Amino acid sequence: MCGIVGYIGPRPTTDVLIQGLRKLEYRGYDSAGISVFADRKIQTIKSKGRLADLEKKIKSGIWQQGNIGIGHTRWATHGEPNDVNAHPHGTSKLMLVHNGIIENYLSLKEKLQKKGYSFDSETDTEVMAKLIDFYYLGDPLEAIYDAISKVRGSYALGIMFADYPDRLYAVRKDSPLIVGLSDDENFIASDIPAILEYTKRYYLLDTNEVAVVKKDGVTVYSPDRTVIQKNELIANWDTEAAEKGGYDHFMIKEIHEQPKALSDTIMPRISSGIPVFENVSDDDLKSVKRLWIVGCGTAYHAGLMGKYAIEKLAKIPVICDIASEYRYRSPLFADGDMVITITQSGETADSLAAQRLSKENGVRTMAVSNVLGSSIPREADDVIYTWAGPEIAVASTKAYSVQLSVMYMLAIKLALLNQQIDMETAKALTSELTKVDDIVKIVLKMDRHIKETAEKYKDCEDLFFIGRGVDYALAQEGSLKLKEISYIHSEAYAAGELKHGTISLITEGVPVIALATDPKLFEKTGSNIKEVKARGAKVICLHTEDFEEAHKISDDEFVIPKMNPLFTPLPGVCVLQLFAYYMACARGCDVDKPRNLAKSVTVE
Ligand code: AGP
Repeated sequence: MCGIVGYIGPRPTTDVLIQGLRKLEYRGYDSAGISVFADRKIQTIKSKGRLADLEKKIKSGIWQQGNIGIGHTRWATHGEPNDVNAHPHGTSKLMLVHNGIIENYLSLKEKLQKKGYSFDSETDTEVMAKLIDFYYLGDPLEAIYDAISKVRGSYALGIMFADYPDRLYAVRKDSPLIVGLSDDENFIASDIPAILEYTKRYYLLDTNEVAVVKKDGVTVYSPDRTVIQKNELIANWDTEAAEKGGYDHFMIKEIHEQPKALSDTIMPRISSGIPVFENVSDDDLKSVKRLWIVGCGTAYHAGLMGKYAIEKLAKIPVICDIASEYRYRSPLFADGDMVITITQSGETADSLAAQRLSKENGVRTMAVSNVLGSSIPREADDVIYTWAGPEIAVASTKAYSVQLSVMYMLAIKLALLNQQIDMETAKALTSELTKVDDIVKIVLKMDRHIKETAEKYKDCEDLFFIGRGVDYALAQEGSLKLKEISYIHSEAYAAGELKHGTISLITEGVPVIALATDPKLFEKTGSNIKEVKARGAKVICLHTEDFEEAHKISDDEFVIPKMNPLFTPLPGVCVLQLFAYYMACARGCDVDKPRNLAKSVTVE
């Protein structure tokens, strides 16, 4: 959940580290710090709060640029956000930055205290640094290998040794870490945006591989300490993709990138009018008798939508589960099961563990992910990448839409392979799906109306979403978006469930967003709207243009074009994302970096 970066080369290192951390701040922003080699010694500076606080501290003090260094931006897990717990941590022999959790740090700490070590911070990371220090007898590689052999948990480490001012060391397990390659300079980073400004070439480190990063070259050692040759990868993102492009926030930029993200993810997979998935064989899909879809947060909500589409079209039972629950409830697997793990970042710890549990039980696994070469797709049997480009804002938007598009294509494909639909129907559904980006473009033009409506309700402290069927699944995503960036308490309810209890929460003036995009449910949803209106609710109805009654029974409306109810969540979610965005802006919230959150949750 933290962001780490490292650099060695001719550029002013402090500037490169700060620039890299700026690109990684979406991964955590509780504190920041850097260590740089200057004047034959390692100097370290760190600060509670945002990167800007660290920059101020650097400018106000005596600080030398240096030409080798490591940096960190933190999402606190062990020890509150303060200067002492901020990274880097270390000793007189070494300094390191860490992303992940050392699960057995307390027992290691006790052992080290018995060896005379004392500790300043509450962090597991300081224990890691002192453990390496304990094993360091002059050979950094040996010390690193010996230390990681004693550690349980996840880590991505960037390490500097005082005795070796010409190199950085990097090692990872479960947490992401790349090595950026260039001619006379090299980098380490948690994610590609941190290095894109300087290079598109990189290595992906595998578990417990150690990289020795020098100015003029990188050597990678395997877990059994032998030199190995890595495959060089090229990032297919450009720096602009990692910039705001003139928008106020990454979130609003990424909301407006959805038409392109959808066509980039859908169109390359349409062949002879139907979906085809590279590297996923029809035979494997044909053998699927039951599906599990797991994920966290927004990814889980995309899975819920997949369940509706796949069960409706392909008549294959789908069990949708939150990854953190799935992995501890001993799922009852059967022959013909396949487990799909949906994840934007490809690094979410609970989703990774859920996929590993499935593999351990011999179940075929498929990953749907947006980050090339991230852990979950790398370990899955099958992979379907979404091509939304980098998603920087913590609140996931375009990733949700492209995940839905993959679920729809998979539903059409499975339905065809299971002869639940004929070729003509498959082509008609696919053709409608390929045009959905145009409908999304129309809805994004409702921007101003949605902004005005949001500002009307900006002072509410509670807000409810109601819907039936696909609309209920969409309401859950709408509610999460609103909660995570505007801090308004909101809940999504199955509209028919309200009268069984929760309608007691509806009082005078409480806003209720009612979703009605499926004609066969208009009447039922209409009754539920009248129920909450009768208790004084202010109803904002998001509906397709064919729900004529909406105008008479709602206080405000968001009208989207009529289309196949199965696909309406794609334009529908854009309305809810924009509503949440403008609510958060009207309430002065930090939209891209909401409190207490981080972009990819790489710890349990
Ligand atoms: C959504 O806006 C949140 N950022 C969060 O719920 C996210 O969807 C969840 O952490 C899963 O992340 P992933 O898709 O990268 O696995």
